[in-house]
Amino acid sequence: MERTLVIIKPDGVQRGLIGQIVTRFEQRGLRLAAMKLIRIDQALAERHYAIHKGKPFYEPLIHYITSSPVVVMVIEGNQAIEIVRRTMGATNPTEATPGTIRADFGLEIGRNLVHGSDGPDTAAYEIPLFFDEDEILSYQRDTDRWIFE
Ligand code: RTP
Ligand code: MG
Repeated sequence: MERTLVIIKPDGVQRGLIGQIVTRFEQRGLRLAAMKLIRIDQALAERHYAIHKGKPFYEPLIHYITSSPVVVMVIEGNQAIEIVRRTMGATNPTEATPGTIRADFGLEIGRNLVHGSDGPDTAAYEIPLFFDEDEILSYQRDTDRWIFE
């Protein structure tokens, strides 16, 4: 089982899309291991997006992600990292395939609604930024045998 960090960004919360976005992941069969509503402060935003420091979009990105509460989740499943990224769609909603979250709910790259870790190393870095180990729950669902082969 792989774990990945997902964030419903401030636009998703402000626009009342939390339920619909969580549903996209739930209906695929991915399992929620942790979830909370938080406000990301400047320091946490800088750690989370450290890889982008110095890029032209860095300052607006930090402003965006700290501008309003977000929902953070740990989502798990076989190949959860790639499945979440494909469910989200391309970074730029203009290029995202219809049926993905970013295409179906968004228009612009700086308002693209969701974040998902982009690889195993990134997930391992990002998850502990937002969750203590005891906030991440290990459990089985009765439906797991109908979802995981
Ligand atoms: P994320 O980290 O939020 O899941 O998005 P991503 O992997 O698809 O894209 P990434 O390259 O990591 O960029 C992080 C976020 O920065 C904003 N961005 N703006 N104006 C631009 O050229 C530009 N490029 C990136 C987006 O909000 C993107 O999600
Ligand atoms: Mg990224």
